[in-house]
Amino acid sequence: MIRTVPTKPYSDQKPGTSGLRKKVPVFQQEHYAENFIQSIFDALDGFKGKTLVIGGDGRFYNREVIQKAIAMAAANGFGKVMVGQGGILSTPAASHVIRKYKTFGGIILSASHNPGGPHEDFGIKYNAGNGGPAPEKLTDAIFEKTKTISSFKIADIDPIDIDTTGTVKAAGMTVEIIDPVADYAELMESLFDFDALRKLFKSGFRMRFDAMHAVTGPYAKEILENRLGAPNGTCRNFKPLPDFGGHHPDPNLVHAKHLYDEMMGPDAPDFGAASDGDGDRNLIIGKGIFVTPSDSVAMLAANARLAPGYKAGLKGIARSMPTSGAADRVAEKLGIGIYETPTGWKFFGNLLDADMATICGEESAGTGSNHVREKDGLWAVLLWLNILAARGESCKQIVTEHWATYGRNYYSRHDYEEVESDRANALVDELRAKLASLPGTSVRGLKIANADDFAYHDPVDGSVSKNQGIRILFEGGSRVVFRLSGTGTSGATLRVYIERYEPDKSRHDLDTQAALADLIAAADDIAGIHSHTGRPKPSVIT
Ligand code: G6P
Ligand code: ZN
Repeated sequence: MIRTVPTKPYSDQKPGTSGLRKKVPVFQQEHYAENFIQSIFDALDGFKGKTLVIGGDGRFYNREVIQKAIAMAAANGFGKVMVGQGGILSTPAASHVIRKYKTFGGIILSASHNPGGPHEDFGIKYNAGNGGPAPEKLTDAIFEKTKTISSFKIADIDPIDIDTTGTVKAAGMTVEIIDPVADYAELMESLFDFDALRKLFKSGFRMRFDAMHAVTGPYAKEILENRLGAPNGTCRNFKPLPDFGGHHPDPNLVHAKHLYDEMMGPDAPDFGAASDGDGDRNLIIGKGIFVTPSDSVAMLAANARLAPGYKAGLKGIARSMPTSGAADRVAEKLGIGIYETPTGWKFFGNLLDADMATICGEESAGTGSNHVREKDGLWAVLLWLNILAARGESCKQIVTEHWATYGRNYYSRHDYEEVESDRANALVDELRAKLASLPGTSVRGLKIANADDFAYHDPVDGSVSKNQGIRILFEGGSRVVFRLSGTGTSGATLRVYIERYEPDKSRHDLDTQAALADLIAAADDIAGIHSHTGRPKPSVIT
């Protein structure tokens, strides 16, 4: 029943920020997915007889790879797999299932916010027994295995019916098809004041949640409409589709512009939110106000005690380096630790496991807490709702009051997508080479106080991660950060993060791009963005 199939290595299976992501046709090459899955197993130790969680965001090719993963798990000696019904498990829900049932780990099939379909993106990532993304040591080991793989093991079994919950046996292994929503919904219920939220909706509070035809649809429907009594129609685009309806399931101001427009319009509901392909990102828009992800983590942390799950207070806050410093001011006021990590949720894992941080957030629309080991879109939405219910104020009131208390960090990210890799690398190399000469010089009237390439020293395991983004720090606390995306699938994406702190309350309603104009110009002067990339302006501004 178990076959060992000879195979040849592929040279391009290096996992990025969040697992291996490629176009579907790349994954459809002979044994491409099998090679990677076998390499994951080969890099792991001690899973014989243990349980593996398998699920995905429902994108094109999800079902095929789930069948392969089940058959390979059986052949490699797992005792059991737990598979989300229909092949569905959001990334945070998978993280929770791994933790709740103390499984060995999990395989999540997703390319997150990237588009799906026969010519779009697919991805495979491995999460460890703590429920979090594989640490770099493990992804490096997996990559090493992909380079020398010569065979994989697979069980000859009929395709498993993944649409019916229940338990079956396949090649000696137990296959349990689980309700993908139930455990997660129960977890949310344990963290938030569902009674208060039911009252909120009963009082006529109107909300819009856009699942973008991705994985959070069934979760949001169940939690918001069924359990919390939000009116039917609160959730939009809630049916997961293999191609996300032809859209980018990326909840930002570009790909969720319709939601933004609605929230700024005359008949805006009270609160708007969206999540991405695999359910770990969030977009928060109050009536008449967009909340940047950097602000959101700061505001959630400042108010977290209003939710039952966090009433004991926070141990600390962690944010990725390019995320604005808004959360730092909250941590300072609360007298708790603040940690600055490289981009990538996996870097929060140690801090969460060691109970040094309770809430984490990234500028890339990710916010989460120690309830799982992934960022969690719906969790952020529910915490916002809990805060709105507890304070009895609008999102806009909460935001403006936060700025008045802590000052406002004007913040924007400019992305230059699909730049030729050589040109993007040349920009970074040149910038890196002149870093030492920058401090003390002035650009556009702004004096550079410091310039470096961010290196992270993990306070838990002592590991060091270098070259995590170039920071230009100006006098007065403004800064510009440059880094290349680790999640793209074609060419290179240059990200430029721009931030300016404004303590003066009378200057808190400026247009963000106008408030940052001098820094944006300085960034181009310093890095030669236009000349290197050939792009006169960014492709996406968030
Ligand atoms: C994924 C990770 C995030 C990370 C983001 C950055 O979504 O889960 O933790 O912040 O990628 O992506 P980038 O394209 O900037 O490397
Ligand atoms: Zn995602």
